[in-house]
Amino acid sequence: MTDLFEAFKQDGRLEKLAAQMAEAISCFKSDAKNETLRESLIFKQFADKLLTDAERAAFYGLPEGCRMRENAKIISPENLKCGEYVFIGEGAVLDASGGLEIGSHTSVGLTVFLWSHTSFETNLHMANYSQSPLIERKPTKIGSGVFIGGPSVVYHGVTIGDRTVVLPLSCVTKDIEGNCIVGGSPAKVIRRLE
Ligand SMILES: CC(C)(COP(=O)(O)OP(=O)(O)OC[C@H]1O[C@@H](n2cnc3c(N)ncnc32)[C@H](O)[C@@H]1OP(=O)(O)O)[C@@H](O)C(=O)NCCC(=O)NCCS
Repeated sequence: MTDLFEAFKQDGRLEKLAAQMAEAISCFKSDAKNETLRESLIFKQFADKLLTDAERAAFYGLPEGCRMRENAKIISPENLKCGEYVFIGEGAVLDASGGLEIGSHTSVGLTVFLWSHTSFETNLHMANYSQSPLIERKPTKIGSGVFIGGPSVVYHGVTIGDRTVVLPLSCVTKDIEGNCIVGGSPAKVIRRLE
């Protein structure tokens, strides 16, 4: 480790890295929004990597028994209503910007995207900026005892009933009643459960 550091110092790579860091820092814009975001970015870069799944879930305010893997993300966590014993896999994105409910004993698999907004109108109307009024938000509800295999996508405004299995690589575009296995894109009921 010391040898590596010495090598970096001697051949000028350390100065180059320091210059690159300084250049990046010079792009920081200090307004209220950026400063709040920066705090969470700094946290994500360092502390998030050191937490266990249970500690990470507690840090993000999830209730008793929840577990959250690294690189999972909650958008607008203040609008998330989460039950107990929920598992959130690596790289999952939980978008609560339009409201998101997750029942207890539900698993959101790795790289599952739960959306509660869509922004495609902002692109079609050349209005693709933050907080555009063309962003549509609708609450999404995932029941209790649901398994969502990843990668899968659940659209904004969709309700998935209790005891549903969503098979990997599914895109859930419409409400699912519950007590069933669904799969495919768009997701269809494959089998009813007892
Ligand atoms: C749900 C599960 C138990 C069903 O197992 P099974 O009873 O043996 O059923 P099959 O695997 O035969 O699948 C039933 C049907 O669904 C279809 N299917 C399976 N996976 C699918 C998928 N991802 N998307 C769409 N259809 C799928 C099968 O082709 C089959 O269709 P058919 O009846 O027309 O032949 C099993 O598929 C499973 O556990 N899947 C999830 C695995 C996973 O995500 N693991 C992540 C780590 S926990």
